Amino acid sequence: MFAGRRVVLGVSGGIAAYKAVILCRLMVDAGAHVIPVMTAAAQRFVGRATFDALASERVLTSIFGEDDPIPHTTLGQTADVIVVAPATARVIGSYAAGISDGLLTAALLATRAPVVVCPAMHTEMWEHDAVQHNIEVLRGRGVHMVVPEAGRLAGGDIGTGRLAEPATIFAAVGEVLAGLAERDPADASPPPAQRDFAGLSVTVTAGGTREAIDPVRFIGNRSSGKQGYAIATAARDRGADVTLITSAPLSPPEGVREVRVESAAEMEAATGAHADADVIVMAAAVADFRPVDVAPQKIKKGNSGERAQAPVIELEHTNDILAGLGARKPPGQVLVGFAAETADVLDNAAQKMSRKNLDVMVANDVSADGAGFAHDTNIVTILLADGSARPLPICSKREVADAVLDTVAELRAGAHR
Ligand code: CTP
Repeated sequence: MFAGRRVVLGVSGGIAAYKAVILCRLMVDAGAHVIPVMTAAAQRFVGRATFDALASERVLTSIFGEDDPIPHTTLGQTADVIVVAPATARVIGSYAAGISDGLLTAALLATRAPVVVCPAMHTEMWEHDAVQHNIEVLRGRGVHMVVPEAGRLAGGDIGTGRLAEPATIFAAVGEVLAGLAERDPADASPPPAQRDFAGLSVTVTAGGTREAIDPVRFIGNRSSGKQGYAIATAARDRGADVTLITSAPLSPPEGVREVRVESAAEMEAATGAHADADVIVMAAAVADFRPVDVAPQKIKKGNSGERAQAPVIELEHTNDILAGLGARKPPGQVLVGFAAETADVLDNAAQKMSRKNLDVMVANDVSADGAGFAHDTNIVTILLADGSARPLPICSKREVADAVLDTVAELRAGAHR
C-alpha cells in the first residue's frame, strides 16, 4: 500500500508530536516517500533534526525561505495523501475555514489528494462545539478522521483527546492508499482523481441477520460482514454518500452512515427507507427462514433434571429483500446482489440474478479455500445482466469491492446498455 507513495506528514504543535516520529518511521519502513511539514509550534515539541533524519526529505516549515518558491502547491499537487498527526484545534479550524496561515494549511488547501486528519487535544477542547463543528465540516468534505482515544493527556489529565496510536493511524492511511490506483513509484505527478462516485448515493447491506427463537437464542449464519464493509469503505473513498445497513459486530467505516439492524424484517424496513439510492449492494446474508413464534421467555430445558421433549421450532419464509427491490427498481438504479453458493456456482447465481431483476450478481463460492465467510480474501465472478462473466483471481475483499464498483461505474456510463 505504501510502496512508492508520496505522503506529506503534517505535524502540528502538541505533546503527541513525538508519536508522529513513530508514524513517520512506520511509513518509511513500508516504502513510502515521506515529506514532513512541521508548524512552528510543532518544533517546540520535537526538533526538526529528528524528522530530517528519519523522513525521505528534509523537513519543510515555511512557505518562504525554502528552495521551492511555491512549496505548498508542489506539496499539494504531488502528494498521494496528506496526513496531519497530531492535528491541533487551530490547524483543524484553519483548514475547515479555508484559511492558509502556514505551509501545512496552505498545502491542505492546495491538494486534491485524500487527507487524513488525526486530532489531538485536551478533552474540553475536543468536545467544544466549535471543534466538533469543524470536524463535521471536514468530514462532510470527504476528509478522513482518525478520532482521538481516551487516556492520559498532557499535564496528567485523563480523558478523550489523546492522539490515536501510530499503528492505528498507519492502518487508516494504508486503507486510504489502498483505494487509490496503482502508480509508478517514480511518478511524482498529481495522482488521478478517484472520486468517480462523487454525488452518488450508495446503500450497502452487510452481515448475517439473526432471527430470534426466544430472548437468548437466535438462528444465524456464518457471515462476518467484512465484504459489505469493504464495499461501503470503497464507495466512500470514491466519493459516494454511503448508507451501511448492518447486523455485523464491526465498527463502521469513518464517514459512512450506519443503520444497525438485527433481523431480516428490520433489514427489509431499513433497506426500504434507503431504496431510492443510485446504487444498492446487497452483500448481507439474509435469513431465508425465521421462527413462526418467538417465545417471550427463555425456553427451559425441563424440570428437575428430567429430559423433557425437545421443542420443535416451526419456521416460515422471510421476505426476499433483494427480489422486492428488483421488482420496484427505479430507472437508472444499479442493483447488485451476492450469491453465496456451494455448488453449481455460476448457474445458480445467474438464475438468481434474472429472478431478482439485478444488474450485477457477484457469484461467491463460499466453500472454496480462501473465500467466503470470515476470510479476508474472496474468490468471486462478477456476472452482468447481458450474460458476460468476469472471474477475479483470489484477492482481498477490498479488491473485490473495487472491482464491483468499477463494474457499476461502467454500467452507469452506459457501457453495457
Ligand atoms: N437476499 C435477500 N433477502 C433474502 C435472502 C437473500 O435480499 N431473504 C439477497 C442476499 O442479500 C443476496 C442475494 O439475495 O444478495 C442472494 O442470496 P443467497 O442467500 O445467495 O440466495 P437466496 O435467494 O437466499 O437463495 P438460496 O438460499 O436458495 O441459495
